Amino acid sequence: MRRAVVADDPMCVGSRVQQKLLTRNRPMRAKKTSYELSRSQVETPHNIVRLVWKITHEYRTRVSRVVDLGAGDGRFSAYGRFGSYDGVEIDTSRTAAAVLPQNARLHTGCAFQYPESGYSLCIGNPPYVRHHELDEGWRDKVAERLGEQLGFMVNRKCNLYAYFMMLGLLKTAPNGLLAMLVPFEWTSRPATAPLRRYILKQQWHVDVYRFTEDIFDSVLTTASISIIDKRNRDGKWQYHSIDSDGLRRVKLHVTGFNRPVLPYEDRGPIWALRGMSPGTQKVFTLTEGERIHAGLTRDDVLPCVTTLRGLPRTITRLTAEVFRNRYVDANVKCWLIRSHEEPSPRLKAYIDSVPESLRNTWTCSGREQWYRFDLHPCPLLLVATGFTSYGPKVLVNSYGAYAIGAVCGIHAKHRRIPRERLRAFLSNINFENRVVAHSGSLKKVEMKQLNAVLRRFCSRYYRG
Ligand SMILES: C[S@@+](CC[C@H](N)C(=O)[O-])C[C@H]1O[C@@H](n2cnc3c(N)ncnc32)[C@H](O)[C@@H]1O
Repeated sequence: MRRAVVADDPMCVGSRVQQKLLTRNRPMRAKKTSYELSRSQVETPHNIVRLVWKITHEYRTRVSRVVDLGAGDGRFSAYGRFGSYDGVEIDTSRTAAAVLPQNARLHTGCAFQYPESGYSLCIGNPPYVRHHELDEGWRDKVAERLGEQLGFMVNRKCNLYAYFMMLGLLKTAPNGLLAMLVPFEWTSRPATAPLRRYILKQQWHVDVYRFTEDIFDSVLTTASISIIDKRNRDGKWQYHSIDSDGLRRVKLHVTGFNRPVLPYEDRGPIWALRGMSPGTQKVFTLTEGERIHAGLTRDDVLPCVTTLRGLPRTITRLTAEVFRNRYVDANVKCWLIRSHEEPSPRLKAYIDSVPESLRNTWTCSGREQWYRFDLHPCPLLLVATGFTSYGPKVLVNSYGAYAIGAVCGIHAKHRRIPRERLRAFLSNINFENRVVAHSGSLKKVEMKQLNAVLRRFCSRYYRG
């Protein structure tokens, strides 16, 4: 072992943008970027690095040239049987302390500017950064370039790790292999659908090993070891579960059950609309106590529901009584401030009292008046999109509360729909074996999946 030889690649435009993001000193940006930095710099535990290599060698007993994009301290070079290893890492503080074997090199710079290709293996744990946390100009440039080279339109809502997967496909030889630690969600999310279609079209074999336990302390997502084998053109996708000791089981479908994942569909006569994100719930939604403390009257607020947690499944309607007992008196956030319109002097005083640090959310700083949000229509039914077993809670919204955050709303062109029948229909669907768990046991149904189910309801019971 010796100290790292750090090759001096010129820093690219993208990396400069990212570096700028990391150091900008406006308070809001600083907060956001430090989050990005920590998100992107999760280290892979050594037992998992070994496991990735163990699985890799089941596909290739030995590999010649290896590339690791977003290599950190180059820890993937410490294991495995390979001829040479090239790690590419943007952050010099990560490369400086690296200790590498003789046949490994770390290059400092942006992976998207790294010129070499033709590798037999792309291995590693790329950075996870959500699309809206990426600099737009940089993201568009990279997406365009990748799209041009791969021949499909890259969805701009991809998380950064998906860009690294695409780059890995470009950097590997025609019979190469990808072995990457990436969130399991890439196998089902709409944003990564073009990437999946591309892989399917090439008929490359895919194996996805989904971890049954959290392998990173700080990342709230289910991780997977995803293998894309360009040499095997059987076009098959296989799903497995795996624990950190490497114990595996084959699954029939991406859901982990014997039913395929619910399809994604556009809106029909009845549709789902995600809960409003007026800014931060800390400011825009209040408990009864907070409302009184802020000197606001009920004319300054609208009733809203931010959670259905704690509500027994026997409650099927949000009535005035349920709202009062379960939300107002229980001091749960249940009032949405009416800052979507001209605020009253009382409300204006509250708005002015909000500290700068709380106004600096991504949503608020994109607005002309930071507090002026677009009010969604009031939904006919309320659905908690997150759930742990069977399916989400569904309520008929008799009280007229607005849906916020993880509670979404069901809407219809004509408001006279059989709401109770629709509630019963939704409550009787076993969503659990039709959606993918993205974080531990927590499952989430997407709006477009609800739309698919709502279309089924319409075709049976309602023509609109
Ligand atoms: C999830 S960490 C993994 C680090 C290391 N491979 C490991 O497994 O411990 C991702 C790494 O990608 C680096 N990174 C982020 N953007 C990059 C870019 N455009 N080019 C190269 N590296 C990048 C981060 O600095 C971070 O070290």
